[in-house]
Amino acid sequence: MIKIFNLNDVISIKDFQKKDIEFILNEAENLEKIAKSQEFSDELAGKILGMMFFEPSTRTRLSFETSMKRLGGNCVGFAGSSASSVSKGESLADTSKMFEAYSDALIIRHSLEGAAKFISDIVDVPVINAGDGAGQHPTQTLLDLYTIKRQFDKIKGLNVALVGDLKYGRTVHSLAYALGMFDAQMSFVSPDELKMPKETLHDLKKNNVKFHETNSLKDVIDEIDVLYVTRIQKERFPDEEEYSKIKGAYLIDHDLVKGKDLIVMHPLPRVDEISTDIDNTKYNKYFEQAFYGVPVRMAILKNIIKNKF
Ligand code: CP
Repeated sequence: MIKIFNLNDVISIKDFQKKDIEFILNEAENLEKIAKSQEFSDELAGKILGMMFFEPSTRTRLSFETSMKRLGGNCVGFAGSSASSVSKGESLADTSKMFEAYSDALIIRHSLEGAAKFISDIVDVPVINAGDGAGQHPTQTLLDLYTIKRQFDKIKGLNVALVGDLKYGRTVHSLAYALGMFDAQMSFVSPDELKMPKETLHDLKKNNVKFHETNSLKDVIDEIDVLYVTRIQKERFPDEEEYSKIKGAYLIDHDLVKGKDLIVMHPLPRVDEISTDIDNTKYNKYFEQAFYGVPVRMAILKNIIKNKF
């Protein structure tokens, strides 16, 4: 069998070539009917997905679980480590070994950058990074790209503004890298304290990706196709006073976007950065974006588990 999707783990978007991303986006489109329960599949019948969520999650955890079940498979795991033996002092390495014994692939969300990579080096089953601290969230990026492609039928040449907490927001670290691969034009809009990390900017420069940094949304609002908004990540601030100074830095409301030719995306959860007066307008793509987590994660699970067995 020729393997078109060659990755054994999904740790960082940097591990993907453009052709791998395109393959997953095409697969996701083919799986949408199953994701919507209009068709049925048992492609992963008998397979079990291990879910280790050390940090809170609604969308990532539930969409992975839905994806596995829509493909006929099943899930085991925990949401919050207090109900597992981690609370008795069991190490991350030992916990991962147990998941390896009980399941055919692992998903991990953890507060420490590098946690998923650490586990992928010590277990034989495929490992998927569901968010590691302020590091990466590669599967979110794939569903973000899918949302953009579904809307515009292309990614190349689009003008995308990433707004908010670009320092601690892992989704934008992965997304900026991937948008660079697709020749999108990018603006990074943030307070000075929350600018895109130097490491991410370095990667973009190395790949000759053009971007523009600003504090002001008004600088870019008339030129963009996609307004990608992020939450200020309160839980990552070492000092709560610093968070209090910056929270509410940007408010996206209907007045701001009215008459503009753009869509509003957000990985969610939102706190107060997108007004609910956008929810029932054509600008809102964030709920659809969250649904697309299902076909995209189905495509990832199907291929990564198939590659292993
Ligand atoms: N977008 C995202 O990662 O959402 P959750 O934190 O709810 O999983």
